[in-house]
Amino acid sequence: MCGIVGYTGERGTVDVLLEGLSRLEYRGYDSAGVSVIDGEHIALRKKGGKLAVLRASLEDAPLPASATGIGHTRWATHGGPTDENAHPHIGDDGRLSLIHNGIIENFAELRAELEAAGEAFASETDTEAAAKLLGRAYRETGDLTAAMRQVVKRLHGQFTLLAMHAEQPGVVVGASHNSPLLVGYGEGEHFLGSDVSAFVKFTPSAAALDNDQIVTITRDSASVTDFDGNAVEPKRFEVSWDASAAEKGGWNSFMAKEISEGPEAVENTMRGRLADSRVELDLGALDDEVLRSIDRIVIVACGTANYSGLVGKYAIETWARVPVEVDLAHEFRYRDPVLDERTLVISISQSGETMDTKMAVQHAKAQGARTLSICNTQGATIPRESEAVLYTHAGPEVAVASTKAFLAQVIGQLLFGLHLARVRGTMADEAIAEVIAEMRELPAELRQVLAEQEAVHELAHWMADSRSVLFLGRHVGYPVALEGALKLKEISYIHAEGFAGGELKHGPIALIEPGQVVFVVVPSPRNEPLLHSKIVSNIQEIRARGARVIVVAEAGDAAVLPYADVVLRVPLTLPMLEPVLQVVPLHIFALELATAKGLDVDQPRNLAKSVTVE
Ligand code: M6R
Repeated sequence: MCGIVGYTGERGTVDVLLEGLSRLEYRGYDSAGVSVIDGEHIALRKKGGKLAVLRASLEDAPLPASATGIGHTRWATHGGPTDENAHPHIGDDGRLSLIHNGIIENFAELRAELEAAGEAFASETDTEAAAKLLGRAYRETGDLTAAMRQVVKRLHGQFTLLAMHAEQPGVVVGASHNSPLLVGYGEGEHFLGSDVSAFVKFTPSAAALDNDQIVTITRDSASVTDFDGNAVEPKRFEVSWDASAAEKGGWNSFMAKEISEGPEAVENTMRGRLADSRVELDLGALDDEVLRSIDRIVIVACGTANYSGLVGKYAIETWARVPVEVDLAHEFRYRDPVLDERTLVISISQSGETMDTKMAVQHAKAQGARTLSICNTQGATIPRESEAVLYTHAGPEVAVASTKAFLAQVIGQLLFGLHLARVRGTMADEAIAEVIAEMRELPAELRQVLAEQEAVHELAHWMADSRSVLFLGRHVGYPVALEGALKLKEISYIHAEGFAGGELKHGPIALIEPGQVVFVVVPSPRNEPLLHSKIVSNIQEIRARGARVIVVAEAGDAAVLPYADVVLRVPLTLPMLEPVLQVVPLHIFALELATAKGLDVDQPRNLAKSVTVE
């Protein structure tokens, strides 16, 4: 889950590295470090704590100017977040430095072997074994790329490594095994990064390494080989968003900015894909014939992306009449799911790098299933490993708490559901046209929701000392309840749970005591009178036991008024589209409450945005 960046060129190397790390800090922020080549040695600075601690140290005592450097921001796995365990790590008696993302599973054996051979270790990390091993391989080969080729064959686990050696100034070598690494191409300079955000401020021209490849960058070249040394030509692409999209602008937090970008995320994900009565999707290998042949869909994803999948399930089953299961990617991977060539496995991931989701896709492919990725990040690993990709266009999401990406993921699945329904002939053109017309209204409706959240601000301040908050929903409101609870717990550290309304009497109602706050996501009485009446019954049951009820309800719903302490309004839309609007007050509530508690909403404790280890 760490962020890594490498650079060789004539800009201020430390500045380039720090800029890259500031973009990658979402991947982990337990410690940070940079190193540059300084004559015959490596100059190094690394600090426990967030990037700001490293910056302050470098301002006090700058590293020397250099044309070659690597930088790292860490999410701790092996060893606590101390200065010693921060990367880079040193090999070859201070002449080599190395950084790492991933886990080296056989590090204990390697360390024992290296210690027996006289190497002294300064940290508790798995990474340092790779640094020492690379230093020894360099002494044998006299060439960093050749040394890297030797070392990767001895490592088990998954890793991206970047390294440089003082005897080869102007060279950075990277290796990737089941962990992302991208190259940035500039004029007289090259970059390496965990994702394009590491260098997009300097160049939009990028390529992603495939699995088991090694890259060597100099000022004027970037050459890629496989682990055996055979040259490969990576596929280059231009990053379509500019660097300012990943900046905070005038906002207090990335999360606040990203919530405000929901309407554009939805608009951009639909752009060019909606005709009057059909959705235009280019799904490559998943052509109409394949889509007609599938008899089952399994959606795999984690966290917020998984909840978006629960919404997708309802829409796809209703419209395309194909059974859909939603699995947590890690649970899917480690049981023995029944899969064949008639199963379509849809992975959903904002980052496209979530290890659990990636492993689920690999497992599905190995079992012969067809694979579609719904992803927000160009060039990421999961879409590259899938047969087809439906990109969401939410723009870069930096805050750990996923917000606008959820909206775009739901939209991506709605688009796919309508496409599938047309291909399989399960929905009339007029019915598809009706949904499309309502989808076109969503950006404007979202803007309205964002403009009318004064009550949420007051609520969050009033509730800043809460110890527990519950969320209740039915049908597509159930995943909204789960998402509201996840958002609250991850950034405000308040205990929160989401429940399906029908489940209440099967246990959760025991939690209700006088004063317990429960958010209830209410479907429209006009569109879903039956579901509406069921949830109103749930509200009465919890109120009878003293709960304070906050409802998220459609603008014209007067029936909930007698039962609600607070009503948060959203515009009327079709049932399957409701989550896109209903989730926004819950996102804002979590943001406001965490802010009222004085917490860092963008970088909550213990978390990282991309979970790239299992
Ligand atoms: O990048 P992904 O969409 O694959 O990430 C999946 C989850 O890790 C992510 O949604 C996580 O649950 C968020 N922090 C929730 O806000």
